[in-house]
Amino acid sequence: MPQHLFILTGASRGMGYAIAEQLLQSGAELLCISRNDRDELDAVAAQHNATLSQWRADLCDASATAERLRAWLHEKTAAHYASVTLINNAALLPKIAPLRESSAADIALTLRVGLESVMMLTAAFLNATQSWTCPRNVLNISSGNGRRAMASQSIYSAVKAGMDHYTRCVAEEEKLVTNGAKLCSLAPGIIDTDMQTHLRDTDPAKFPSHQAFVEYKRDGHLLTPEAGAARVLAYLAREDFGVNPVADVRDA
Ligand SMILES: NC(=O)c1ccc[n+]([C@@H]2O[C@H](COP(=O)([O-])OP(=O)(O)OC[C@H]3O[C@@H](n4cnc5c(N)ncnc54)[C@H](OP(=O)(O)O)[C@@H]3O)[C@@H](O)[C@H]2O)c1
Repeated sequence: MPQHLFILTGASRGMGYAIAEQLLQSGAELLCISRNDRDELDAVAAQHNATLSQWRADLCDASATAERLRAWLHEKTAAHYASVTLINNAALLPKIAPLRESSAADIALTLRVGLESVMMLTAAFLNATQSWTCPRNVLNISSGNGRRAMASQSIYSAVKAGMDHYTRCVAEEEKLVTNGAKLCSLAPGIIDTDMQTHLRDTDPAKFPSHQAFVEYKRDGHLLTPEAGAARVLAYLAREDFGVNPVADVRDA
């Protein structure tokens, strides 16, 4: 039986971990890329007879990992796969503060992990699979923050706005080639992970929207990582995936 092959970044915790679990439960073959492995995922893979690889990599410098991914995909037998999908999920929040108080190191790290690595891995993926005849997908996990302005969020928001627009451009490129990949930069909703804790733990004096994030949690508006993952994977499975290169899980 042809397998569905997925490459997923940021699988060690938060929504990425839940996406990894759900993909393995479906029997898919999965390659996870994060700074940390999770032994629990090996157990889930074994239980569901799924093939799992976990690469430890720091995506603040993704050039070697992108090259490794290109070589790894080249070694695969394309005919064994029913589809191949890259999910760029890893990201980080810098110190939440006005840009004038942000350090050069924090700006560089956030952009490199959240956007530079995403473009490098996408380039390697599209290059290595260009002759594959199965459906090819790139799902970039974006954020509503890339689409609306919020004080003290300029660095993270720039990452996600950049993600949205590079996705639009590459979607146009892929329309011009045979079996071009479908791409989507998808806002996943608000999910109860370390990122939300980081926002709530920020000094309100540095973050004018602080109270809104406290209320999201208090009023039960946060999705569990499992529910967030399920919504993202349901969007990926839609017939019209990629028709809108920039979308939101809440889109009808
Ligand atoms: N949570 C929300 O409400 C929310 C809302 C909108 C969008 N999003 C987006 O959803 C995605 C998942 O967010 P989350 O809330 O699940 O985040 P999270 O709990 O903070 O997890 C982030 C993941 O990214 C990985 N990561 C961070 N820095 C890395 C690095 N230098 N190299 C490699 N991997 C790195 C982490 O793995 P390691 O630490 O093991 O490296 C971890 O697996 C992100 O793209 C985020 O922007 C989240």
